[in-house]
Amino acid sequence: MQCSWKSMVLLVLASIAIQYTAIRTFSTNPLSLLCSVGLAATGHAVNCSLKDLARVGPETLEGSDHGCDEIVSHTPAAPSPSPSPSLPSYNANKRTHILILATTRSGSSFVGQLFNQNPEVFYLFEPLYHVQLALLPRLAQSRNLAERKVMLGAARDLLRSLYHCHLNSLESYIQPRPAKHSTDKLFRRGASRSLCSPPVCELPLGPKEQSLVLADEGECARKCGPLNVSLAADACRATRHAAIKTVRIPQISDLRALIEDPRLNLKVVQLVRDPRGILASRIETFRDTYRLWRLWRATGRRPHNLDLGQINTVCEDFLRSVSTGLARPPWLKGRYMLLRYEDLARFPLQKTRELYSFLGLVLNHNVEDWIINNTRGSSDLSSRQKFTTVRDSAANAENWRVKLSFDMVVYTQTVCQPLLGLLGYKAVFRPRELRNLSHSLVEDRTFLPFL
Ligand SMILES: *[C@@H]1O[C@H](CO)[C@@H](O)[C@H](O)[C@H]1NC(C)=O
Ligand SMILES: *[C@@H]1O[C@H](CO)[C@@H](O)[C@H](O)[C@H]1NC(C)=O
Ligand SMILES: *[C@@H]1O[C@H](CO)[C@@H](O)[C@H](O)[C@H]1NC(C)=O
Repeated sequence: MQCSWKSMVLLVLASIAIQYTAIRTFSTNPLSLLCSVGLAATGHAVNCSLKDLARVGPETLEGSDHGCDEIVSHTPAAPSPSPSPSLPSYNANKRTHILILATTRSGSSFVGQLFNQNPEVFYLFEPLYHVQLALLPRLAQSRNLAERKVMLGAARDLLRSLYHCHLNSLESYIQPRPAKHSTDKLFRRGASRSLCSPPVCELPLGPKEQSLVLADEGECARKCGPLNVSLAADACRATRHAAIKTVRIPQISDLRALIEDPRLNLKVVQLVRDPRGILASRIETFRDTYRLWRLWRATGRRPHNLDLGQINTVCEDFLRSVSTGLARPPWLKGRYMLLRYEDLARFPLQKTRELYSFLGLVLNHNVEDWIINNTRGSSDLSSRQKFTTVRDSAANAENWRVKLSFDMVVYTQTVCQPLLGLLGYKAVFRPRELRNLSHSLVEDRTFLPFL
């Protein structure tokens, strides 16, 4: 592989920029980084002195309920949830930061909604999009190790800032650069309930209008006007927990520095899906990138220049990441849960309860209602709804079996064979087996969270 001097210079410049951003974030307000989270909304005066800073070590914060970065008391205005006795791990004081580690077309929007629908969670949909766009505009699938490292370093720094509600860290990556902390360029803003509801978006037309804005992503961007980033940061601080969904972190080991950070209390939900299902869904969604696969499906002949890179990447990243997770290294204790999309599609309520229990969060009735509304009934798959989650999830998880040709299925499952075995997805050897939907290709497996 060659690395021209131009790209080297670019990489060096990019890493300097990232370090500068990170240093600035820390140096402008080192105390706020530790102490502001959750406190602004409570109105409590908290002594968060330099002594606290010195005291912050892995032992003090991990085990204690009195660290200065925790919510001291709950906002009086918000309804106080009563801790359920069936959730022994629930800790009323601890702010939990959740990362949904996923890949495109693996059901991550659906999983994101399980948090977005919860009023106690501040949810962001793919903020790392802006990092990738700013640093690697034309190298979306970069396999170059140096570029990947720069991108991941920036991604980690940004995630850390966002969990601490320093939303203005995101502004450095948004183009054009927001003026006066106000932007209409935030990627998929409408996918975050908190960014489309009061106080971030206050509509004069009343509750009916407001619920319309929440039901339709585009409506939020049209009706709410530019996003006031300072208001959004306030909303983040006023919310008990924060969740971020991303498809731009390849493996769990890329997150190790964040997971080991005792101030962060980060828990990772790794979402996986049968790679054959991911492939079928991507072929429908990313029509240009997967053009040759569509040609194969239409003609019945595999194009000789078919790009296997994309599906290889999915399977390699899953395999490495899941192997790491299932090996249970000490640094993942209490921090990692593996979730198969197919299990969630078949048993949405049960799996969501397991998820919430692992995270130590109380399952809110809004979330349960949303699941009931969105996993039964209409399965309207019109193209406008490509990115929405309003559909029958169970039917959706399986429909690759009627969308891919038998050859394509055999080819993919051969490339991804070790992963299929690890995750309990069965290979098929005859077309009849593939199309017979009463014959399940998902082995019953229980992947218990590492507690
Ligand atoms: C954003 O909100 C803050 C706090 O309410 C306010 O002071 C500021 O003027 C707002 N910014 C814009 C551009 O509206
Ligand atoms: C569920 O659907 C009902 C009936 O359409 C609606 O009134 C309710 O607001 C929905 N709830 C959620 C959480 O989507
Ligand atoms: C479909 O699979 C089921 C369950 O494995 C089996 O009982 C049934 O005979 C199969 N049907 C056909 C047409 O092969």
